[in-house]
Amino acid sequence: MPVSADTVPVKKAKSFPLYRTVAGFVRDPLLQLQRINEAADGELARLGLGASRPYLATHPDHVQQILRRESENFLRDGVFWRPLNRLMGTSILAEGDDWELSKRVLQPVFTTRNVNRLTDLMATAINDAVEKLRGQERAGRTVNGLPEMSRIVNETVIKVLFGDKISPVEADRMIPAFDQVARSIAYRFLLPFVPRVIPLPGDRSFRAGVKIMDETLFELVDRYRDDPGDGGDIFTVLCEARRAPGSGLTDTWVRDNLLAMFATSTETTTLALTWLWPLLNDHPDVSARLHEEIDRVVGSERVRAEHLHELPYVKQVVQELLRLYPVGWLFPRMATKPTTIGGVSIKPGETVLISPFLTHRLASVWERPLEFDPDRFAPENARTLHRYAYFPFGGGPHQCIGRHVFNVEAQMILTSILSRFRPTITHPIPAMPRIGATLRPREDIKLTLTPKAANEPPKPKEPQEPRKSQGSVAARTLSVNHEMP
Ligand code: HEM
Repeated sequence: MPVSADTVPVKKAKSFPLYRTVAGFVRDPLLQLQRINEAADGELARLGLGASRPYLATHPDHVQQILRRESENFLRDGVFWRPLNRLMGTSILAEGDDWELSKRVLQPVFTTRNVNRLTDLMATAINDAVEKLRGQERAGRTVNGLPEMSRIVNETVIKVLFGDKISPVEADRMIPAFDQVARSIAYRFLLPFVPRVIPLPGDRSFRAGVKIMDETLFELVDRYRDDPGDGGDIFTVLCEARRAPGSGLTDTWVRDNLLAMFATSTETTTLALTWLWPLLNDHPDVSARLHEEIDRVVGSERVRAEHLHELPYVKQVVQELLRLYPVGWLFPRMATKPTTIGGVSIKPGETVLISPFLTHRLASVWERPLEFDPDRFAPENARTLHRYAYFPFGGGPHQCIGRHVFNVEAQMILTSILSRFRPTITHPIPAMPRIGATLRPREDIKLTLTPKAANEPPKPKEPQEPRKSQGSVAARTLSVNHEMP
């Protein structure tokens, strides 16, 4: 493990040719990155990505330097951001004045105070959405994990954050269209240096998805532009900012921010919750402890915000879930001034990639990094880790504004599902990410939801699995080939 960033004399970063052919990289990017991660062991690595040669920074000191100490130097710019900039370039996901203004307008929706104010509404929305799993066609039968998590998250977010202003018909148009956009952007994200004039797989599907999103989003802007109502939701704050005299803001600015907020508030939470099921399936000891805690605290009641204070293990499971599957797994920065990281000179215009996925799996930072072990986050095991050893929500000025929402929402959804059902995976499959801008499971995760009896006593803990199998999901992600969409 190298020492801190500034104490090492100027040197060259270790260079890793990421692929000999584009096809090889596209087939198995995550495995290659993980191998590099292990070989570099926290030192700054330089990736040979053909025309572009970004650095990969995984050491917590380096991550802190880039995201926090030198955040004014390292900007969200450069080839890796192009696909996103084209999609929502004046939004909170941009940089500079557009980002600052968008953030100032949206921030009040996400303060701890406002999120606390919204928890009752969130609990109602989640209980109602989860209750639908009891439908004749679902209880006791197989459900597809990702679309069901997506439905629950979307119904919740639309009610709570978007003030219920997106109708079910509009949601039914937007959700699959956005899914299409999120999947098809993968090639452009992984091969950012390929010029736009050269077609890549996914381009057509991307354009079709964006067209549908745009039709719906601009209709919504038209409807709420002059009369957004009150309620402090995302529509209200954006439309009010646009209406303010002399704001100079346009419909496109509102549309860009609606899309950015829709993307960040739905896709991330959906994917994180989808990864939960294979992990629990592989770890019956964790699953049994969760059921015991939830049965004892919530029983057959509808989950409420107050329950969360009495569910410490639920919180630990969610924290550990985001250690192994931080769905915002890779985010790039571009240097604007000369600097050094870990003794390596970085020139203006060069890109540095940051990856919580890789930092969270560094053996020199985490013990047994590939094992799913929620007890790492138990108060009695608290040890002083580097602030940037664990950063699923990023850090510095761009740190995720949705982290409080996510924490409350994910804990409530998990609790609400496990208070009603005993989910099992129908055909256990290796849970492998298919990577793009986010970590998506490559195969469908099919769940059988066995309803719990109303007065079912908590089940005794099942015997502990041998240690070896405890990291199996995580380990397998890295040992088998993945394919692109
Ligand atoms: C599993 C859940 C989530 C994860 C892992 C996650 C991760 C992240 C990360 C890593 C960043 C920093 C990106 C960067 O530095 O370039 C970020 C930013 C952001 N996240 Fe999240 N996020 C999650 C959930 C949410 C939710 C639920 C919302 C909204 C309700 C949200 C809204 C945002 C926004 C708007 C930003 C941009 C903030 C800025 O640049 O000022 N996220 N998120």
